[in-house]
Amino acid sequence: MPSIEIAPSILAADFADLAADIRAVQQAGAAMLHVDVMDGHFVPNISIGVPVLASLRKATSLTLDVHLMIEHPERYVDAFAQAGADWISVHQEATPHLDRTVAAIREHGCHAGVVVNPATPVSTLDAVLAQADFVLVMSVNPGFGGQKFLPGTLGKLRQLRDARSRHNLNYRLEVDGGIEAGNVADAVRAGAEIIVAGTSIFREPDIGAAFRRMKSAALDALSQKV
Ligand code: DX5
Ligand code: ZN
Repeated sequence: MPSIEIAPSILAADFADLAADIRAVQQAGAAMLHVDVMDGHFVPNISIGVPVLASLRKATSLTLDVHLMIEHPERYVDAFAQAGADWISVHQEATPHLDRTVAAIREHGCHAGVVVNPATPVSTLDAVLAQADFVLVMSVNPGFGGQKFLPGTLGKLRQLRDARSRHNLNYRLEVDGGIEAGNVADAVRAGAEIIVAGTSIFREPDIGAAFRRMKSAALDALSQKV
């Protein structure tokens, strides 16, 4: 049975009052939070790291989906897993031994995800798809919230969905960047099952209502899909 999760990205939340913003999405029905880790090298921006994740872990029971936009993510898997990550994703472009890094994430008992930037073809993931718990398709160039969705990336979701059924694999499909209530249906129809949304949830005056709008638009698209 297909399902949809909306994963609010705290990058757009109020960092001085994260607990309140998290409460708002949790009360609206969120089951997971997307945590963007940026190092100022792999992407041209710096966000948060291990200590913030550890605090989030104490503050919430929501599934923590940690998106590592950092160079050499293999060096930090242990620290993020220890700090309480449930899901950890690493970019294909950032780690020379993707297979080994995915294995390391799974050895920590976390769900392992692999991510591709808009300019990276899906074929670069072929060798690890059988090991991945999820695949994240970037629908913006990573580094900043609030960017415009790149519709050309939808084809990658379709490719990954087709490859999954063709090869009888199990990974889930996540999409990240520029998602709003107006385009979430396109992402769902292309195969997205976990929808990351930052600006369109946390920058709205009523965070809970924005979450519910997004979720119901996604569920509508799912039910119309044959
Ligand atoms: C972009 C991050 C995203 C970002 C999404 O580099 O990986 O998770 O927070 O933010 P919005 O939804 O504002 O595009
Ligand atoms: Zn992200």
